[in-house]
Amino acid sequence: MDTTLIRQAADLLLQANHVVALTGAGISTESGIPDFRSPGGIWERYDPSVFFYQRFIEEPGFVWSTILDMAKTGALSIFDAKPNKGHLALAYLEKIGLIRTVITQNIDNLHQKAGSRHVIEFHGNMQHAKCIECSKLYDYEELVNFLDMENLPPRCKCGGILKPDAVFFGEAIPKNALNEAFEEASACDLMLVVGTSAQVEPAASLPFVAKGRKPMAFGLMGMFSSSKDTHVIEINLEDTPLTGYVSDFIIKGSTGEVLARLVEEVKGLKGLK
Ligand code: APR
Repeated sequence: MDTTLIRQAADLLLQANHVVALTGAGISTESGIPDFRSPGGIWERYDPSVFFYQRFIEEPGFVWSTILDMAKTGALSIFDAKPNKGHLALAYLEKIGLIRTVITQNIDNLHQKAGSRHVIEFHGNMQHAKCIECSKLYDYEELVNFLDMENLPPRCKCGGILKPDAVFFGEAIPKNALNEAFEEASACDLMLVVGTSAQVEPAASLPFVAKGRKPMAFGLMGMFSSSKDTHVIEINLEDTPLTGYVSDFIIKGSTGEVLARLVEEVKGLKGLK
């Protein structure tokens, strides 16, 4: 782990006025939840096409049986997962006023369990299942305990089919989350991009917006129109499409270790115990 970059990140954190963290599945792997695209990740074991919204509408029973299988095999056993040092570090930095918002692509609720208060769930969450007819919400964990492979898909009292409240591919990002996340990315002067491969839009556009650029997704190939003096720092085991293009630098290492070291560095600079 590059301690010079940790020190540089700590200095930038202390100088910044509005810090946002954008997190992905990589911050939860140290809590035992596999990510999607690393070797052995979820998309190596399950076909991502199952998680397209249209597929759910056509074959809700099959999609639910896949979700139950993922819960059984641990690929989606998120309810007994505990926050790790990475989640706790971001919650601490928010507590001492250095981080304003966490925008997470994760649906595991671990930032909230770690104590982060301002969390934007960009891809929804798995705390509820929602009726696709009347939008009534059901507690997901309770629901799954009663489900068995025979009577899928689960239905609402109104007869409508229940769908996990996480965002499927091809499904709209919840409007409030989308608007608030882009507002935060536009307003921040430092963005920490933590444990994401930055491949899924529109979340992958947020670092471009932070930098004041037109995201590639808008077909302008990241034309440099930066009018913002924003720093973007990645924390990841490997380079991503942002590396050397949007991010100022990448701190290579595990999110838990790097974020815990960053907190220690900040505490030292601020004279905190
Ligand atoms: N420390 C640091 N980085 C890690 C760690 C770790 N312990 N574990 C994994 N990573 C990194 C990987 O190198 C990878 O770059 O985290 C990233 C995880 O990438 P993905 O698996 O693609 O997850 P994510 O970026 O969150 O995916 C975005 O895609 O499948 C959809 O909706 C799903 O929200 C998800 C979205």
